[in-house]
Amino acid sequence: MFDFGRIIQRKGTNCYKWDQCKEFFGTDDLIPMWVADMDFETIEEVKRVIKERVEHGVFGYTFIPDSFYNSIIDWQFTQNNWKIEKDWIINAPGVVPSIKICIQAYTSPGDDVVVQTPVYFPFFSSVKFNGRNVITNPLKFNGKHYEMDFDDLERKISDKTRMLILCSPHNPVGRVWKKEELERLGEICLRNNVIIVSDEIHSDIIMSTHKHTPIASISKELSEITITCMSVSKTFNLAGLATSYVIISNSVLRSKYFHTAQRLGLLTTNIFGILALETSYRYGKKWLKALLEYLRENRDFVLKFLREKIPQVDAIETEGTYLMWLNFKKLGLTQEELKEFIFKKAKVGLQDGRMFGEEGRGFMRMNIGCPRVILKKALQRLETAIKNR
Ligand SMILES: Cc1ncc(COP(=O)(O)O)c(C=O)c1O
Repeated sequence: MFDFGRIIQRKGTNCYKWDQCKEFFGTDDLIPMWVADMDFETIEEVKRVIKERVEHGVFGYTFIPDSFYNSIIDWQFTQNNWKIEKDWIINAPGVVPSIKICIQAYTSPGDDVVVQTPVYFPFFSSVKFNGRNVITNPLKFNGKHYEMDFDDLERKISDKTRMLILCSPHNPVGRVWKKEELERLGEICLRNNVIIVSDEIHSDIIMSTHKHTPIASISKELSEITITCMSVSKTFNLAGLATSYVIISNSVLRSKYFHTAQRLGLLTTNIFGILALETSYRYGKKWLKALLEYLRENRDFVLKFLREKIPQVDAIETEGTYLMWLNFKKLGLTQEELKEFIFKKAKVGLQDGRMFGEEGRGFMRMNIGCPRVILKKALQRLETAIKNR
């Protein structure tokens, strides 16, 4: 019914992932598996509603209708069993802009902001560019998957610590945090007056048997110290429409967020983004179910291929996101040598693990949001390059 195996030519569409390879890797002769969007078409209903709107031909100033907020309220309830109110929602042009707004709204230059490494690299730059200090609370690998290090977190929190940026589910290690883990993290933040900015952009991309819990949905107390950032950009592959939203139940925090965003001119959105969000939330359930099945098969395909054909590369069983965290340490290469090897010899455009923090040395991140034939070709290239080393 939905053809995720169909190859769609993205080259020549100003596509970051496919058209910026030369700038990033020094060659465009590789299979790009870096930028976190998918090579799949979005849902039919979104294409249709945008086409209809385009036909109207007038694209003047537009307000956000109630139906936009209602679609978010319904989605959060059916997906996450989370009851939210219209007033708690503020639209945004992206999750990264929202994180930057939070940093400006709730912290001052010189304050400490905690991130759990290895982690999505704009967390570092968002903190640093605003003159705040990045404090790393590295995740621990227990031989099967990554876990939070609560003792390290307790040690690192000081009277300068104002905020923790949570990545839930976690990019790049693919963890879907369990409710108990989030409760423990939340308890530490509550006790130390640390605000939680929870980036939940990947919250709909959950592999079967796992379940996403918005940290703010756990208790009233946690809701009061949390800013939740959500979006349709990963779920329905709509990143180019630059539309997301934050959920803030605490009226004081919400007002601070709102005024900071207003001051920076970041409450803007666009006609197509509003329509696409509402339409995908209203009509996208079936498509999402099929997508998750395809992604789970892609993940299992990679795990099997590595186990059987490239045992030198270890992968963790991704629980959520369409990203896989690959450990190349057995090759015994420095990060520079590894990059040279993967990009120039294997000709696969993985994302350099070191960008996610010091803990990413020896790792690369693979985006599996693509047709399986492309995934297979990339794995075969890795296999051949490693065999012929
Ligand atoms: C964890 C995480 N947050 C945010 C983003 C980007 O969000 P946006 O494009 O809405 O700024 C990404 C994209 O890869 C991501 O993985």
